[in-house]
Amino acid sequence: MNLPDTSRHRRALAARLIAQGHLKSPAWKAAVEAVPRELFLSSGVFLPEEATGLWRPITPDGMDPEQWTALAYSDQSLVTQLDGRLTPDQADSAVSGFPTSSSTLPATVVGMLEALDVEDGQNAAEIGTGTGYSTALMCHRLGEDSVTSIEVDPRVAERADASLETAGYSTWTVTGDGLLGNPRRAPYDRIIATCAVRRIPYTWIRQTRPGGIILATVGPGSWSYGTGLAKLTVKDDGTAEGRIIGPSSFMPARSQAVVPVSGDLAACTAYADTERKAIIEPDRLNEWMPAFLAQLAAPGQLVRAVAGGGQETVYLFDTSRESFAALTADAGEWTVRQGGPLAIWDAIEGAVAAWRDAGEPDISAVRVEVSPHAHVYWIGGQQMATPNRSYWIGDNPALRWEHRHQPLTT
Ligand SMILES: C[S@@+](CC[C@H](N)C(=O)[O-])C[C@H]1O[C@@H](n2cnc3c(N)ncnc32)[C@H](O)[C@@H]1O
Repeated sequence: MNLPDTSRHRRALAARLIAQGHLKSPAWKAAVEAVPRELFLSSGVFLPEEATGLWRPITPDGMDPEQWTALAYSDQSLVTQLDGRLTPDQADSAVSGFPTSSSTLPATVVGMLEALDVEDGQNAAEIGTGTGYSTALMCHRLGEDSVTSIEVDPRVAERADASLETAGYSTWTVTGDGLLGNPRRAPYDRIIATCAVRRIPYTWIRQTRPGGIILATVGPGSWSYGTGLAKLTVKDDGTAEGRIIGPSSFMPARSQAVVPVSGDLAACTAYADTERKAIIEPDRLNEWMPAFLAQLAAPGQLVRAVAGGGQETVYLFDTSRESFAALTADAGEWTVRQGGPLAIWDAIEGAVAAWRDAGEPDISAVRVEVSPHAHVYWIGGQQMATPNRSYWIGDNPALRWEHRHQPLTT
């Protein structure tokens, strides 16, 4: 099929991204204006149907070319694969499923690329090629030989590679688990991940030059929100340090996809060690920053369940599922029952209370240090400036979380 010349749409996209404050530098503007996003969507996209909760497949063949182009340049993430297998060109009606690959919202892609602070002559690795659109932008900016992009799904990788070739970029696409990086092309000046991780794999630090930057969405729990964009600088001593530069949400790395808590939750949580009134209502965890804090304080999973009579129970489990907290409301008051070695709700309430006492700083106050043995997150020892005030946050052990892990040997 002959697609229309889309240079006008690309220029309009760049202008919108500049106006919204996502696109800042001439070099990335040139990339956005040069790379045709529609070339990376040739298998079509799934659009969400609000009424049914299903995904409607749309392919370029079945659509007016102008409408297709408008869709390709719209400000939305376009899902290109469900459940690790189904692409839009394989579906003939609306389907259910869980998104496993997409072309991310251009504002997010470009905002992240700007935050990567690349300089001419540098090389970069991307984890999560997806459609290859962001890879193409990086190839335009850095040169096709200076980009390595790793995609875990072989069919997604194959399609992205073909699209990149069509767009004129013969870059280094690698099929494999990006959590292991790609040592053959290391060291990198920059590593960027477009899938979310529970922690920064130490392999990425080992494969980044001292002074290099790693940018990735992290959330120590397995929540689909309440995650943050970590920007870390690798140091000479083999550790990396930085902060969370803003809220960010991405589909999880495949091996870290959420396995829904199954079974009879009421039965799993029937025998509690303690019971008390909750000080903080679980609805507070609908907000991004308390949700992020909750994952720092007690990494694990949150499940909201509504019983036949309409009573809601909020369940939290730690990663091992040995500990739980179950919150139920009665006449407007929440009761929390906790069991297992970790008092999950005590930890979450402690973190949220300490954050409130510190003036409820936003997620950019969270600092991170990654060593071979641990991730340490903390808020403190810093001056905060908001549009209304400037204040000092002192060190407070209640705002410091250390997540230890085994050093990787691979
Ligand atoms: C949101 S999409 C990527 C968007 C893409 N950068 C773009 O602009 O089109 C996330 C991709 O990460 C891939 N992915 C998930 N886990 C991965 C892993 N461990 N290593 C490499 N790729 C992974 C998924 O298969 C999916 O294609």
